[in-house]
Amino acid sequence: MSVFEHVRLVPADPILGLTEAFKADERTSKVNLGIGVYLDENGQLPLMECVHAAEDRLAAAAKPHAYLPIDGLPGYVRLVRELVFGADSPAVTQGRIATVQSLGGTGALRVGADFIATLSPGAPVLISDPSWENHRAIFTRAGFTVGAYRYYDAEAKTIDFEGMIADLEAAQPGTVVVLHACCHNPTGYDLNPEQWGRVIRVITDREMIPFLDMAYQGFRAGVAEDGAVISRFAEAGLPVFVSTSFSKSFGLYGERVGALHIVCRDAEEATRVLSQVKICIRTNYSNPSTHGAAIVAEVLGDPTQRTSWEQELGRMRDRIKRMRIRLVEALRSEGVGDMDFIAQQAGMFSYSGLTRDQMLALRRDHGIYGTEKGRMCVAALNDGNLEAVAKAIAAVRDR
Ligand code: LMR
Repeated sequence: MSVFEHVRLVPADPILGLTEAFKADERTSKVNLGIGVYLDENGQLPLMECVHAAEDRLAAAAKPHAYLPIDGLPGYVRLVRELVFGADSPAVTQGRIATVQSLGGTGALRVGADFIATLSPGAPVLISDPSWENHRAIFTRAGFTVGAYRYYDAEAKTIDFEGMIADLEAAQPGTVVVLHACCHNPTGYDLNPEQWGRVIRVITDREMIPFLDMAYQGFRAGVAEDGAVISRFAEAGLPVFVSTSFSKSFGLYGERVGALHIVCRDAEEATRVLSQVKICIRTNYSNPSTHGAAIVAEVLGDPTQRTSWEQELGRMRDRIKRMRIRLVEALRSEGVGDMDFIAQQAGMFSYSGLTRDQMLALRRDHGIYGTEKGRMCVAALNDGNLEAVAKAIAAVRDR
């Protein structure tokens, strides 16, 4: 009798599992629109110029591989906090933000969830409906019961803002509300500044805990523009959790480099909070790895490099926007005239409105991979695959 006798086989991860299936597909015409990864016009994962140059500098001054502190590389931690909140923001200058380096955005969410579980184990958690597939799993695994607030109106292809507000108003004090700061994953629809104002008011009045996930900073309008909402929360006088990531904006997917920030009332509170978060890290993976954080610190710490990074990121953002427009045009040429909304969405994804059966047919009959819920990564489109994708979408809609 094996101790593993009753271990249940679970289905592959809805996003990462797609990449495994894509790799195993032998068709040369296959296209991976499953995972949120930016590919260049040649369909390749780019090594960003600023990253390449930083790696050259780091290699030229090679150092022994010491442990990092539990909360990460000090220069990185400071620069990331200033990038996310603004160097002059009162929360930064007053020292009331506890920041730790994390293993990507996912690691920040999990460390944050583990810390909240020590404070308020029974707190309800609300995520958007729909949300990134892993949000529910992370908070469930950390011991929470996860519910959802209305977010997307599938019929009208827009945000169900009144539904969202009604659900937040009905939530109990202490509820953790997970929000997408920009480039909502999977829908691509973001709140406007006025709507954010209302959300902040409801969350403040109801004494809830906002947890802002910002994995795509810079992919909507720009680094500062996309981050502006974070400062608004930080100044609202609430406890705020923020998870950030450089997987997408620096193309550092495999380095797992992100950060968790917790905005506190004052510096003394931030010191106590940081000490507890360090326990969550120490008892999980001890301390983070160096290379990715050193690259980001090299770039953000040098004004010229930082400007080149923002310009490079801007070119990526513009290319995605062009691909959205080109896809709408190509679909129209194939007789699909009701998917113009693709050009209105922001970030890497388009929530196509295709059914699960249509998505499975895209994969099976055309080698085009997107999630079963209809999400497609438009950042993986290029002039070479776009027409085939449009033709395949038209074909599965006609079935
Ligand atoms: C995605 O949503 O595709 C990315 O955030 C990658 C991931 O970890 O799921």
